Amino acid sequence: MADETAPQTSPETPYAAMGGAETVRALAHRFYDLVGSDPAYAELRALHGPELAPIADSLAGFLSGWLGGPRDWFESGRGCIFSLHGAVPIDHRTAGQWADAMARSIDSEPRVPPQIAEKMKDTLGRMARSMAPREAAAS
Ligand code: HEM
Repeated sequence: MADETAPQTSPETPYAAMGGAETVRALAHRFYDLVGSDPAYAELRALHGPELAPIADSLAGFLSGWLGGPRDWFESGRGCIFSLHGAVPIDHRTAGQWADAMARSIDSEPRVPPQIAEKMKDTLGRMARSMAPREAAAS
């Protein structure tokens, strides 16, 4: 039963603030369009199989739940985003390419409010870079 005393002004999620499913889908597909077309991301592109569109859909699903929207992706049993990349040979260079392409995709999307855009670029960039093993200390 609905609690009539619950506050009606729960803070808006980032997902809602940016316009929901359409914006999130556009972000994910723009990201993979860049990865597939810009030679600056050639090494990152080469880590993927021939079909990027299904991965873009999956990325949209991840981002949806991560941004406070529908959580179907998290409930689909894929596991955690870090273990999902366990077999991908990520290094600091390709992780940097991922972060750069994601930043460009976010920057090209006017529906993402600036404060949310900054936070997303920072956090997703850190997550991507943390997937690369630390460089061995120079001797
Ligand atoms: C915040 C960081 C990242 C997020 C949120 C993310 C998200 C995703 C998602 C949702 C998928 C699809 C998984 C599936 O449905 O099977 C995926 C696949 C993939 N990601 Fe990432 N990713 C990140 C970072 C990276 C980085 C840094 C690299 C490489 C440098 C990378 C390379 C790949 C590859 C190669 C696949 C395809 C794996 C396959 O062929 O099955 N990802 N990623």
